[in-house]
Amino acid sequence: MIIPIEPWLETSDQHRLLALRERGEWPQLYGEAAGWHPLAAPSQPVTGSLRQNLHHPIPMDFYHEPIMVDEILKAMAPVSGKQIFDGTLGGGGHTEAFLQGGAHVIGCDQDQEALDHASRRLDVFDDQFLPVKGNFAQITEHLSGLGVEKVDGILLDIGVSSHQLDDAERGFSFRANGPLDMRMNQEDGETAADVVNMRSAEDLADIFFHYGEERKSRAVAAAIVRRRQEKPFETTEELSSLVGSVIRRKDGKNPATRVFQALRIEVNQELKVLEAALAASVDALEKGGVLAVITFHSLEDRIVKRFLHERSRAFLDRPEWPEPKENPDYHFSLPHRKAIQPTAEEVARNPRARSAKLRVGVRV
Ligand SMILES: C[S@@+](CC[C@H](N)C(=O)[O-])C[C@H]1O[C@@H](n2cnc3c(N)ncnc32)[C@H](O)[C@@H]1O
Repeated sequence: MIIPIEPWLETSDQHRLLALRERGEWPQLYGEAAGWHPLAAPSQPVTGSLRQNLHHPIPMDFYHEPIMVDEILKAMAPVSGKQIFDGTLGGGGHTEAFLQGGAHVIGCDQDQEALDHASRRLDVFDDQFLPVKGNFAQITEHLSGLGVEKVDGILLDIGVSSHQLDDAERGFSFRANGPLDMRMNQEDGETAADVVNMRSAEDLADIFFHYGEERKSRAVAAAIVRRRQEKPFETTEELSSLVGSVIRRKDGKNPATRVFQALRIEVNQELKVLEAALAASVDALEKGGVLAVITFHSLEDRIVKRFLHERSRAFLDRPEWPEPKENPDYHFSLPHRKAIQPTAEEVARNPRARSAKLRVGVRV
C-alpha cells in the first residue's frame, strides 16, 4: 500500500511515517523522489494533492486509452521479478498491464493530476507500484533516489494524455476554450501565454517553423506580435482565431494545429527531455533490458530512430579507414528494423492511435 505523504501532513504524522520507513515497513515516501523531504516546511506549495482529491475525487471513468498494449507487453515481458520504469504514467493503463504481468513498476509523471489518478487506480497493487513525481529526463536521479540501480524496462509513451487534451482548463486544445497554459507540470515553467506574449517575432517564427513545421511561421508570428500590443493573449480561442485569420487550410484540419503543437513542444521542452531520457536509458537499463518508446509525430520519431540506429551498430566503417572500428556507443540491438504501428482494428477503436509509432531497443 502506498501512503501519500505530502507537506500538509501534521509534523507528528511525518515523524511517525519516517519511523515506519526506518523499520522497513514503508518503502516509498510519496513525492520524496521529486526532491521533497517529509520533514520539509509545511508551507511548501502543493496543488492537486491527494488530500484535496479525497474531497473532490477524480471520477474513475475514462482518462486515457493506452496504445499498442499487446505490442508493448510482447516487447517488455513484464513478469514477476522484473522492475520497470514507466516514465509517462498518465492514466496508468500500461503500468496496470505490467503490474498484472507480475512486474514491479516505478510510475513517473510530471503532472500531479495524472499521479493522483493513477495512484488511486493502482492502489490494489500495494508496494508493487511506486509513483514518482517528476520529469522522465531525470530518470537517473529518480532511480538513485529510490535506491534502484538499474531496471529491466523503460517505457516512454510521449506526449499528452487524452485527459489532458480534453480538459479545456489545461489549455492544450484549440477545440475548447481555456487558459493558454499547456504545461504538463502545472507547478513549474512558462505557460504558452508567456511564450506568445513575451518572445520576439523571430523566436516565435522559429518555434512555429521548427516544432510545428508551419510554412507560414513568419506571418503568424508577425500577426501575434501586432495583436498582443492591443491586448495580451490569455485564451486558446484568442490564439486559434488569430491563427485562423492568417492561415487557410484546404485539408480540413484546423489552421491552428501546427502552431499549437509547436507551442506545446516549446512549453514542455519535449524534444530536449526526450533526448535526455534516451541518453540516460543506456546506464539505467540492465543488460537485456528493454527500451520502448511510443511517439506521435515525425520530429520525435526521428530522434528515437536516430538514437537507436547510431547505438545498434557494433562496428563503424568509413571509406578512408583501412578496416571497420568497434562502435563505442554500441548499446542496443533492435528486434524490429522498422517502427511498429497500431493495427487497423486498434485505430478504428481508438483514432488517437493512428499516428503512433513504437520503437524498441534491447540493451546489449
Ligand atoms: C500519452 S500519456 C501516457 C499514457 C499512459 N501510458 C497510459 O497508459 O495511460 C503521457 C503522460 O506522460 C506525461 N509526460 C509527458 N512528458 C513527460 C515528461 N517529460 N516527464 C514526465 N511525465 C511526462 C504526461 O503528463 C502524460 O500524463
